[in-house]
Amino acid sequence: MGKIWRRAECGKLYHICTNFHSAIIIVSFLSACIVISTMPSFRKPFVELSCDHRWLHDAQKTYLYTTRRSKLYEDMSIDIAKNGPLFLDMGTTSQGLQLSELFNLSSGQVVPLQKPAHPPVRATVLHLDFDTARKILQAVQKTFPAAFIGVMWYQDPRLYHSSMYHASHHLEPIPASREEIAEEIRATNEVAKRCCPLDIRLERVVLTSTGVLLGCWQVVNGTDPAIIRKWLKTHLPNSPTKQLYNPVMIHTSLARILGPPRDQKMVNYFDTYVSNLNMELCNFKATLRELWFVEEMDVLALALNGRLKQHRFPLECNSTSGKALF
Ligand SMILES: *[C@@H]1O[C@H](CO)[C@@H](O)[C@H](O)[C@H]1NC(C)=O
Ligand SMILES: *[C@@H]1O[C@H](CO)[C@@H](O)[C@H](O)[C@H]1NC(C)=O
Ligand SMILES: *[C@@H]1O[C@H](CO)[C@@H](O)[C@H](O)[C@H]1NC(C)=O
Repeated sequence: MGKIWRRAECGKLYHICTNFHSAIIIVSFLSACIVISTMPSFRKPFVELSCDHRWLHDAQKTYLYTTRRSKLYEDMSIDIAKNGPLFLDMGTTSQGLQLSELFNLSSGQVVPLQKPAHPPVRATVLHLDFDTARKILQAVQKTFPAAFIGVMWYQDPRLYHSSMYHASHHLEPIPASREEIAEEIRATNEVAKRCCPLDIRLERVVLTSTGVLLGCWQVVNGTDPAIIRKWLKTHLPNSPTKQLYNPVMIHTSLARILGPPRDQKMVNYFDTYVSNLNMELCNFKATLRELWFVEEMDVLALALNGRLKQHRFPLECNSTSGKALF
């Protein structure tokens, strides 16, 4: 909208330009045009455009994805203020599963319950290496006080990941033969070859109303998740039409709070813990170097250490097989 407005207004001015007496007005108008067009509030509507973006050059596209991600994370962070901490009464997950079906807390420890997934979920995820994941885990454990032991489940640092695209998920299961799955694995490898490793920076930590602590990332360099998902979509033509995540989103599940902490007073300080963790992890840098095709034999196997088969592919940045960055 900003761009169209600018073109229309500046076009009109061009015709008046023949009139010498208007020159001074034109100069002021043109300056106004330039000033207005560089104002953030006029660049913003850009982001909401749903039409073809091919005319944008790379820097503008990067800007578009970045601002869309920030807006998305902003919206996600106000979810808990809008809906309240639903997890305090052992509620449901964002995927509609009962928490009590996923965890057994009765021994005073958090024990995940594994349930077979029929058919197995087939997901492609970007993997975060163990050393980096361990540092993040330490920050999470340091920030949340001991009162949360027994009601908090920490993501296994060997399986930190950002979900990109599903070839089959629980909402739209797509059964496949071994041959079809082998083809999906091969196709995922093709995409990984084209993608460049992603340098990412933590933009914020969000606690959702369902109790999931999420690390939300911004992309500094590498193939944007929006592009990775686009390529996966063309390479996995039978995948569910409705995917689970916003195309620009790149987030990592860090932990899940399953109920009220032992010391009830702590309930009033969620904001403080989340903001402390934000301070701890803000701008934390990481690099994602692998795309995984994962078969989750158990429900939420990646999150709950269930049974899974993973196929790992390095991001090779092979630009001869297509423009690597965009
Ligand atoms: C939960 O754990 C308790 C204590 O270890 C055990 O007795 C119970 O059978 C478990 N429940 C389920 C559903 O696994
Ligand atoms: C961005 O990533 C590409 C591909 O991995 C790499 O060649 C380039 O040096 C990186 N640029 C910066 C500024 O890190
Ligand atoms: C890059 O991709 C092209 C076309 O798929 C292939 O011929 C070439 O060998 C690849 N290069 C590398 C370094 O993998």
